[in-house]
Amino acid sequence: ARIRHYKWEVKYEFKSPDCYRKLVIAINGKTPGPTILAQQNDTIIVELKNSLLTENVAIHWHGIRQIGTPWFDGTEGVTQCPILPGETFKYQFVVDRPGTYLYHAHYGMQREAGLYGSIRVSVPDGVSEPFAYDYDRSIILNDWYHKSTYEQATGLSSIPFAWVGEPQSLLIQGKGKFDCASVTQPNVCNATNPECSFYTMTVIPGKTYRLRIASLTALSALSFQIEGHNMTVVEADGHYVEPFVVQNLFIYSGETYSVLVKTDQDPSRNYWATTNVVSRNATASAPPGLAILNYYPNHPKRSPPTTPPSGPFWDDVKPRFQQSLAIKSHRDFVHTIPQTPDRVIVLLNTQNEVDGRRRWSVNNVSYNIPHTPYLIALKQNKTHLFNQAPPPEGYDFVNYDIYKRQNNSNATSSDSIYRLKFNSTVDIILQNANTMVVNNSETHPWHLHGHDFWVLGYGEGKFDINNDPKKYNLVNPIMKNTVPLHPYGWTALRFIADNPGVWAFHCHIESHFYMGMGVVFEEGIEGVGKLPSSIMGCGKTKESHNP
Ligand code: C2O
Ligand code: CU
Repeated sequence: ARIRHYKWEVKYEFKSPDCYRKLVIAINGKTPGPTILAQQNDTIIVELKNSLLTENVAIHWHGIRQIGTPWFDGTEGVTQCPILPGETFKYQFVVDRPGTYLYHAHYGMQREAGLYGSIRVSVPDGVSEPFAYDYDRSIILNDWYHKSTYEQATGLSSIPFAWVGEPQSLLIQGKGKFDCASVTQPNVCNATNPECSFYTMTVIPGKTYRLRIASLTALSALSFQIEGHNMTVVEADGHYVEPFVVQNLFIYSGETYSVLVKTDQDPSRNYWATTNVVSRNATASAPPGLAILNYYPNHPKRSPPTTPPSGPFWDDVKPRFQQSLAIKSHRDFVHTIPQTPDRVIVLLNTQNEVDGRRRWSVNNVSYNIPHTPYLIALKQNKTHLFNQAPPPEGYDFVNYDIYKRQNNSNATSSDSIYRLKFNSTVDIILQNANTMVVNNSETHPWHLHGHDFWVLGYGEGKFDINNDPKKYNLVNPIMKNTVPLHPYGWTALRFIADNPGVWAFHCHIESHFYMGMGVVFEEGIEGVGKLPSSIMGCGKTKESHNP
């Protein structure tokens, strides 16, 4: 195993990823930032210099479990204090599983200012994968707003609530195209800026490409498709999938997939790759994102002679359920799953009003990030720094009507956490419901830090605690770190609480987590080693041990 050393400078810069000029947060001048390339069991060291002038930062390594290094998970308020302007912070951790992962800011709403990138971990030399390919490529899909994250965040926490609305563009590997004709101010939008030329992936005819596709959208659920080419899904969140073929791939924020694409079409032309919004009203949202699949030796900038393929209908939830259900573990890579849980936690997802503010809640509790990170508070026995009452494990199953717009007026906000028994098996049932708008339920991609979980099942409607567990897939469930909770549906997961630390579990929609849609788990805190002093400095972390 090797050490991979990176030096990053994080800085605000003017960029025009979709032709529209705005302030973005770049790493070494780029968004998406540099790709981390490593082999299984390598050690990654990132020396991060915060040059944001007046703003803190923290970076999360999404999908990396941080075994033995829970303090480098990068989650502000949970595992570390934020990095102050002018400071350099050293992240150091081992990538212990091959696969496709991500990194992104985990502080306020900085992620959607452009602070993100890919991590690609390959298998060690001599180890083979259950599929063959000639070339390996990565792309990140994202949605993009022209308003600053501050304007958005302020609106979300204002009375009355001010919603930023739908994104202006969809980006494929950091490139999109906003219609500059609609912009009247001079020098803001320039349709011929090379920064917003189509992302082009050049391919050689007759080959097989492994395309690693990730989504880090702030809001949107997406579909991705390549004109005239099928995709064979082979990896999900770092785990091998029993291969299946799709025409379009549904992908939710925080998910990663590898698909195999054969370049077996007419080689005399180029093809469109497109991404479009699903689950939210696509006619009101950003137009499809476009990229060019360039068959060598055609000119890379030559537009395909066709109109870009339109994706699936945004409001058709059936095919999205179907894809979720189709993702099973590859038969040769099934991780043995405990057949019964030690604890079952039901998490009802609702939209609420707390103290007159619009919030998202879980079991009627809307999550607040504390000032002193839990990891430090717990290690230093400063438990008075957050609410010690355990959060609720369920809700009124029998009487709650998930299809009805509820008042949900009894919601509170809290920074309390779930304390899990070390090495116990925990089931999580995510239950979706109607929002504060009549006849509306949204898609929520839930992401767990520090673990992979087994996906036991998905269902429509209200979870039936007596019968639905009988239908769980305990034979070949996929392991993932992010799963969608579909509108008016439920999703069931199982994980083993075997990673000493404090771990966030939250909706990956940036505004939803900001508005309280998350919980935190603690397990095996006594097994956590000595905390590095670099993660301290905020809240009450500087106080002496004696109360
Ligand atoms: Cu990718 Cu806590 O997030
Ligand atoms: Cu959500």
